Amino acid sequence: MELLVLGGTAFLGREIALTAVARGHRVTCGARGSAEPPPGVDFVRVDRDDEDGLAPLAGHGWGGVIDVARQPGHVRRAVRDLTAAHWTLVSSGNAYADFSSLEQTEDAATLAPLVADAMASDDDYGPAKVACEEAVRAAGPAAVVRSGLIGGAGDWSGRTGYWPWRFAHPVGPEVVVPDDLDFPCAMIDVRDLAAWIVSLAERQVEGVFNATGTTTDLRSVLDAAARVAGSSARPRSVPVERLRELGIDHWMGPQSLPLWIDDADWRGFATMDTRRARAEGLVTRPLEETLADVLAWEEARTEPRPCGLTDEEERRVLTAL
Ligand SMILES: NC(=O)c1ccc[n+]([C@@H]2O[C@H](COP(=O)([O-])OP(=O)(O)OC[C@H]3O[C@@H](n4cnc5c(N)ncnc54)[C@H](OP(=O)(O)O)[C@@H]3O)[C@@H](O)[C@H]2O)c1
Repeated sequence: MELLVLGGTAFLGREIALTAVARGHRVTCGARGSAEPPPGVDFVRVDRDDEDGLAPLAGHGWGGVIDVARQPGHVRRAVRDLTAAHWTLVSSGNAYADFSSLEQTEDAATLAPLVADAMASDDDYGPAKVACEEAVRAAGPAAVVRSGLIGGAGDWSGRTGYWPWRFAHPVGPEVVVPDDLDFPCAMIDVRDLAAWIVSLAERQVEGVFNATGTTTDLRSVLDAAARVAGSSARPRSVPVERLRELGIDHWMGPQSLPLWIDDADWRGFATMDTRRARAEGLVTRPLEETLADVLAWEEARTEPRPCGLTDEEERRVLTAL
């Protein structure tokens, strides 16, 4: 199959391209070239911010196009300018309008689509993904994959790698954790998601699918993180109010404790009902395998981790308790 991956040089897109090459497909990746393209693909330099940026990929009948775009204009121009037998859009659980309940199905309400072609800020991410979904679904046979948090080697955000890394490198006998240990968690391994997305393209599957791992809780993630790190450090549960006083953020970003959200309206955010995807062949591996993998990747990380607590911040919190 002649497969075009729009993107294909970063975390998930790269894994999709590598998987498709390994399955014997002829794979083209289209991106600006900020990162080295994966081995075995034909790389075409394109800038989708330009009105005619996809011209080098047009005039060709693609067997399938897989797109990881966030900007509605990128997808609108792709479906306008390219010809494909099947489209797959990587969307996000952020498309949903409400996260107060757990394991929503694909029928739950989504946000209003972004009208503009480009996001004005990160707050537009959910509406932008809904607009991307609308564009691709209007284009012809299409699969829309609403992904949950993606974990594993290459997770530059540090959200899935922080806890195994922190347990592998405690600053003392204790590791700072939020006391909301029942917080519902889920993540999908990048390899599982990539393999399933390629199979959707191969089989030209149509529909909207939630894709994430089995729902668990923060306690279980921390236990698994400590196990894969071979750590004897003990979690030190800090009341959420105390974390707020100490200026510790949640979910991601600097000075944060990841995989937990200090907001009842977002309690179901990480979880999704994945029965439809599983009936269509999605298989997810045990959490420990993903955490072990991402730990190995974190150990070799060269850039600073953009989330979690630094050693200095960890010591400051422990001293303040
Ligand atoms: N990470 C998560 O936990 C998570 C959760 C839910 C959903 N998702 C979704 O999963 C996908 C992640 O994909 P990813 O990791 O491969 O993507 P990514 O980090 O969003 O990378 C974007 C890709 O698109 C290319 N690109 C960006 N701007 C471009 C432009 N103007 N013209 C041409 N190419 C451009 C980039 O290459 P160049 O920079 O070289 O152009 C890169 O290959 C996204 O759709 C994201 O919304 C992620």
